[in-house]
Amino acid sequence: MALLEVKNLVVHYGKALALDGVNLRVEAGELVGVLGPNGAGKSTLLKAISPAVPSRGDIVFNGKPLGGMRAHEVVAEGICHCPEGRRLFPELTVLKNLQLGAYLRRDKDGIAADLERVYALFPVLRQRGRQQASRAGRALRPRRGEPGLPARARPHGARGDERRARP
Ligand SMILES: Nc1ncnc2c1ncn2[C@@H]1O[C@H](COP(=O)(O)OP(=O)(O)OP(=O)(O)O)[C@@H](O)[C@H]1O
Ligand SMILES: [Mg+2]
Repeated sequence: MALLEVKNLVVHYGKALALDGVNLRVEAGELVGVLGPNGAGKSTLLKAISPAVPSRGDIVFNGKPLGGMRAHEVVAEGICHCPEGRRLFPELTVLKNLQLGAYLRRDKDGIAADLERVYALFPVLRQRGRQQASRAGRALRPRRGEPGLPARARPHGARGDERRARP
């Protein structure tokens, strides 16, 4: 059974068709990248899974259909959409932003251990914290245990113009 299976996904923005029958299969332990030119629909695909935009088609995670679920319910299933840009809560400290990634969890020891893991990956967060790095930390801890699915646009934080400059 696939960890994530997307079948025939269709997304419209108003009358504009953004995704026209997208299929995607992610096995547990796989790292999958979705490539395409600007405007191809990569972000829309992640937003449909989150869901931050409505879609038609089937999205099944760990054997469970996500159709009809709201965003917080999808997070509870173990999917964390790490959006591009600095979609943080700038009025909160870096620590509070990190802790938000575990807001569904109650295992204090596990949360503390995961926070140490995030600090090991991004030591600067322990000192002062850079917001761009803390968005990665948030996606690492959607829920206790495995499997989980951190879904992230632009893993290296590249801006569109930087990417366009590449061959
Ligand atoms: N909020 C919106 N309203 C209307 N159209 C949108 C909206 N967001 C995206 N689109 C359109 O949907 C299509 C897919 O856009 P999307 O942002 O998913 O592409 P992308 O592959 O992530 O592009 P990029 O590489 O620039 O991030 C594009 O034609 C875009 O103009
Ligand atoms: Mg995008």
